[in-house]
Amino acid sequence: MPARGWQYTVSGRLCRTYLYFAGIMSIVAPDVPLASPFAAYRGLDDALLAERIEAVRRRMGSRLVILGHHYQQDGVIAHADYQGDSYQLSKSAADRADCEAIAFCGVHFMAETADILANRPEKVAARGGRRVTVVLPDMAAGCSMADMAAIEQVEDAWADLGRVIDTADITPVTYINSAASLKAFCGRHGGIVCTSSNARAVLDWAFARTKRVLFFPDQHLGRNTARAMGIPLDEMALWNPHDSALGGNPREQIEKSRVILWQGHCSVHAMFKPEHVDAMRANLPGVKILVHPECSMEVVDKADLTGSTSYILGQVEKAPPGTIWAIGTELHLVKRLEQNHPEQTIRFLSPVVCMCATMYRIDLAHLCWSLEHLERGKPVNVIRVDDETAKWAVTALERMLAVK
Ligand code: 13P
Ligand code: SF4
Repeated sequence: MPARGWQYTVSGRLCRTYLYFAGIMSIVAPDVPLASPFAAYRGLDDALLAERIEAVRRRMGSRLVILGHHYQQDGVIAHADYQGDSYQLSKSAADRADCEAIAFCGVHFMAETADILANRPEKVAARGGRRVTVVLPDMAAGCSMADMAAIEQVEDAWADLGRVIDTADITPVTYINSAASLKAFCGRHGGIVCTSSNARAVLDWAFARTKRVLFFPDQHLGRNTARAMGIPLDEMALWNPHDSALGGNPREQIEKSRVILWQGHCSVHAMFKPEHVDAMRANLPGVKILVHPECSMEVVDKADLTGSTSYILGQVEKAPPGTIWAIGTELHLVKRLEQNHPEQTIRFLSPVVCMCATMYRIDLAHLCWSLEHLERGKPVNVIRVDDETAKWAVTALERMLAVK
């Protein structure tokens, strides 16, 4: 894992240390008994919740790992052992040997990935049959993009494609932002998972094996990556899962396509528009536009730099004082960068709030509720992928982890 993700781990610890010495951690007034229904936690003060979360962390020690995606709220990130992008977090879940439980502060597909990787059969055997329990503090923390591709739709698309082209010559590639069943589909069909950090390397891997790729669920990551590899737009088809006539494509388009893009998108990154880039350039001379590849091709084309959340963080961290940025990704990450880098000028690319409402569902109350239940051996919101799905999903995930 690159050092930067871990630096944030350290800052999370510093934050806790600061709270402790500032005396805030000594507030002990647990007026909600342990293992209460969630509603009892809702009204608790943040300082008290933070204290109770830290108390569980102290008692559980290395048996508990809290993972936090970059889009999480600062208050939640302060309790994370590791902060990172989807790739870093899935790798850290894959690498951990000693932990008994993972609390995933992110969204549903991330917790599924952690469950699959942490509970691979050889890992479970090495622990004497013990599984790592993975919890998602709020089960409503889903991902609207992941929901845009259902396994039945992908299987239908595969069957439809098989009527016009040879599916043995297609590698299915799923963005990690997808349900475990889609990862399993890729595992079963010689396919692979990618993240925004490794999409280019994964597509290279796929094209070394087959002529074509079916990429789901994010059309933008697929298109932006394929274009950066020199694949022309007329060799890409857009597959609308709601159109039963070859996903809305003439047969010839499918036949000449090297990349078939699923018509899915991230509703947060869809809010960044090319005109926002124009406005920033007009108002902030010298500005560098830095965006996530889930943004549309029109935005990416106008940007100076494009990359995953960790890439964005790394670019800002290594930039000299006085650098001016307009950043197109989820609001919480941009706000944190702004606070952590007062020596640079950091602006949010869009004039409107682009916030991931489902990431935001993880708050201190849900984290505290899930940790206290976990500690008492009565976990709530357990994410458990069934063995058959996990077996094939891990095949696709391990292919990804092996790609350099
Ligand atoms: P990364 O952190 O992998 O760049 O993903 C962004 C995202 O949208 C996660 O949901
Ligand atoms: Fe899904 Fe977009 Fe939210 Fe990421 S930011 S979890 S892709 S909706």
